[in-house]
Amino acid sequence: MSRSFLELLAVHEEADELFLRHQEALLSLDIQSAMSILGRYEGKLLAHMRDEEALLLPVYQARTKDVPGGPLELFLGEHRKMRGFIEEFHATLAQLCAQDGSTLKRSVIGLLDRQCMYKHLVEHHNLREKNILYPWLDRITSEEERAELLVRCGHPSETA
Ligand SMILES: [Fe+2]
Ligand SMILES: [Fe+2]
Repeated sequence: MSRSFLELLAVHEEADELFLRHQEALLSLDIQSAMSILGRYEGKLLAHMRDEEALLLPVYQARTKDVPGGPLELFLGEHRKMRGFIEEFHATLAQLCAQDGSTLKRSVIGLLDRQCMYKHLVEHHNLREKNILYPWLDRITSEEERAELLVRCGHPSETA
């Protein structure tokens, strides 16, 4: 069976689901739980971005030239912005721990507003990978390379 880097879209979906659970906890004003789910989300996201930066983007950069809408710097810049947002969310949550009542509720609204911007960023980034990075990687790698790279990205088989 032929492998495709589009299988990695499952990682994006799992991460999106965790982020929604984090936001559900925020809505319930359960800050401890929101913090712990954000930590799990961050672990998954950072591992995935590390794989892309260490294993996939170097292959993409070496074997493509002037792909419209897909310069390397754009992918790396979006990763950098995403990491920055996550750090900001951790810092905000640390402040929320000391709040209650109306103050806490308004802080949560402020955090959700920031997270709305973050979610737009992630949505654009994931679309760019779905439409540009992953299809190009499929084009420029052999079947054996795809299988090996996907295993190294923690994605051993299509059903995993
Ligand atoms: Fe990415
Ligand atoms: Fe990705």
